[in-house]
Amino acid sequence: MQRKTYAKIDGEALTKNVEEIRRKYPMYTYYFGVVKNNAYHHGMKCVLDLKKGGINYFAVSSLEEALLLRKYDSETPVLCLEPIDLEFIDDIINNNVTITVESLDYTEKLLESTLYGSIKVHLKVDSGMHRLGFTNKEDLKKAYDLLNQQNKIEIEGIYSHFATSGVVDPYYDEQVASFLDITSLIDLKSIPIVHLGRSLSLVQHEKIPFCNGIRLGIILYGFAQSIKPDRSFKGRLREVKRGYLQKKYHCSKTTLENDLDLQTAFSLYTEVMSVRRVSENDTVGYTKKRIKNDGYILTLPVGYADGVTSDFKSVWIGNNYYPIIADSMDMLMVFASEPVHVGTTVEIIGKHLPIHLVCSRTHKNAYHLLNDISNRVVRVHVKDKEQEEIYY
Ligand SMILES: Cc1ncc(COP(=O)(O)O)c(C=O)c1O
Repeated sequence: MQRKTYAKIDGEALTKNVEEIRRKYPMYTYYFGVVKNNAYHHGMKCVLDLKKGGINYFAVSSLEEALLLRKYDSETPVLCLEPIDLEFIDDIINNNVTITVESLDYTEKLLESTLYGSIKVHLKVDSGMHRLGFTNKEDLKKAYDLLNQQNKIEIEGIYSHFATSGVVDPYYDEQVASFLDITSLIDLKSIPIVHLGRSLSLVQHEKIPFCNGIRLGIILYGFAQSIKPDRSFKGRLREVKRGYLQKKYHCSKTTLENDLDLQTAFSLYTEVMSVRRVSENDTVGYTKKRIKNDGYILTLPVGYADGVTSDFKSVWIGNNYYPIIADSMDMLMVFASEPVHVGTTVEIIGKHLPIHLVCSRTHKNAYHLLNDISNRVVRVHVKDKEQEEIYY
């Protein structure tokens, strides 16, 4: 590694997270690992860790991502969540990629394509997100019948994606009802895999009886987005209030709490690249930030092109936090009152600067924060004491 900025990915933590999820929520048959955008920027090599923990289907956003995944795992089925241009039908078949069929128009194009081998499809229903999927039962029925007549096409799955799935959420129930309505003309039981939920639905809602699959993204990477069970008076009061609101708004049962023990797998480091003395009233960086005391500016090789800005507020070096004074595309400037050696390791996200803290400082959620750390940052994948530098 020449530029010393890298994200350390803890493969064991990912495996343990999946094991923990499967232990506490064993009611599904298919656990989809959502590894789009390079596994939420943890690096596609993580598919091996996720599979080891019990993920038995993957989901990506594009054919390119599916092909990257296939470099690590040639066997586990992978569903592409967006429709793939059928010009690439041979790549789809050769790499055993399951495709999403989301409209009658796409169905007809698929039927016009020459298939040299068999292909698995999952039908996508738009139950309220209004992004992708069949919006009415007649079109879905036509597509289902047309596809069912083809001997090279298998309708293996059907799914939808929740726009919302929070607690006390009437729209969640409306989306489930809408899914049932749109699928009412077809035989849902004839389709082997039915999957609606995502991370939040897993932990905050009861299992939907007709689903046997769940697509998990952010939770795999250590974010359960909920609180620990709380039997204190305040916790029970909260539960009573939730019960009252559920009744009032006719919502299905939800909870904010779970006792999942998950770990984040992502940390970010760099090292001091240059050190210079500054005096009180000197200015630093493009914004000419004025220095209040004599000291040192430590320049770090990481900037907003890597997804790191002065909004991160501080870094951790040795045993102390140091304030970030200025940022630029490729470098950050940090103030220290004492000199620090060039080459000293700097933590940007990690034990002392956990992701939830950086999220609150930057006003981002974990999805945005992780996905904003660019592919320019080398991923150092750590597993069983072995390290591999991966350039994506
Ligand atoms: C269609 C689909 N399914 C599942 C997921 C995973 O969601 P989450 O990370 O909230 O589990 C996503 C993420 O954006 C998605 O777009």
